[in-house]
Amino acid sequence: MKQNEMIRLGMIAVLLTQTLIAMAASDMGPPAATLRAAAEARGMHIGSSVDEDALRTDTDYAGVLAREFDSLTPENSMKFAESHPAPFRYTFADGDAVVDFAEKHNMQVHGHVLVWHEQLPKWLTQGHWTHAQLRKILREYIFRIVGHYQGRVNVWDVVSEAVDDNGAMRQTFWSRGLGPDYIALAFQWAHEANPDALLLYNDYGGDGGGAKADAIFKLVQRLHEQGVPINGVGLQMHTSVDDPPDTKAVSANMARLHQLGLQVYITEMDVMIKLPVTRAKLEAQAGIYRNMMSVCLAAENCHNFTSWGFTDRYSWIPQFFPGNGAALIFDEQMQAKPSYRALMDVLSASGASSP
Ligand code: G3I
Repeated sequence: MKQNEMIRLGMIAVLLTQTLIAMAASDMGPPAATLRAAAEARGMHIGSSVDEDALRTDTDYAGVLAREFDSLTPENSMKFAESHPAPFRYTFADGDAVVDFAEKHNMQVHGHVLVWHEQLPKWLTQGHWTHAQLRKILREYIFRIVGHYQGRVNVWDVVSEAVDDNGAMRQTFWSRGLGPDYIALAFQWAHEANPDALLLYNDYGGDGGGAKADAIFKLVQRLHEQGVPINGVGLQMHTSVDDPPDTKAVSANMARLHQLGLQVYITEMDVMIKLPVTRAKLEAQAGIYRNMMSVCLAAENCHNFTSWGFTDRYSWIPQFFPGNGAALIFDEQMQAKPSYRALMDVLSASGASSP
């Protein structure tokens, strides 16, 4: 073969190789940014509650969950009725599946919820217990659940929703059976069961200002001053486009909790929309997500932003608030909504931006 022919063939081979490399690079595109990568860069954990049935049955759901989030809150499987359905029976299968998934995908698990007035089993609520018997039941329950997840679940909603919407202490099965000390007892037992766990009081409707927020603040201030092992407060942040949270009030509430030395978690955020969904409502929803992420980023004591679900395909809202829905950051087809983009924009902006 003549030398010129060999040189020509060589040049063609080089050009072909360069073309193939360029094509491969363009297919890869820019590094796929995700919420969890953007959040990690800002020292923030971004979480979602997890629907245990969807995790088991919907591969799209599991894929997005692992890709976008680094913190999981079991939606139901670690609640009393699900974990302790009968006097001598505990069931951990669904909770274990959530923790297994989280560990496989390098995610933390937010234990939810040791003491709540809802989702209690009938054997408990219909029993006739003395104070001593009920105290024994709750103490054993807390030690059993926290102990089972020892080392795998290190953040717990210890008590949820002990304050009523008007700011009074809520009258519940637990307060009636054990008196107001049930709250301090629950935190004490959870701490004894896992001294390394971060223990939260979790509530809705007290995210910013107002009577309920003040009552929650007074409650946790009293617990803290009594030496009760409480580490933080969960602001559930169940909101709506029609009643957005007051950004300045939420920021001030976080600041006063910081002065107590308490962490703040956004634990259950969703922003419901009165149907039908419109572009304007989606943009308003995105603004609310944007503002709350900005407030959390700007607060010294807020490092976990968790929504109550992440896709409209699985949300508690339509069942509990008929005529409302579309509260989350992915739609029913698992496509990112303007709210997703808003969170990504805030997380990707340089430095903590005040809203
Ligand atoms: O597990 C039973 C099943 O055995 C039964 O067949 C089925 C039909 O009745 O019900 C199943 O229990 C349901 C449970 O979710 C598990 O799917 C309950 O009926 C249903 O009421 C329960 O709803 C949960 C709700 O709390 C209960 O108030 C929602 O999924 C859950 O998203 C919601 O989450 C709460 C947080 O835990 C605390 N903060 C408020 C938030 C919204 O209420």
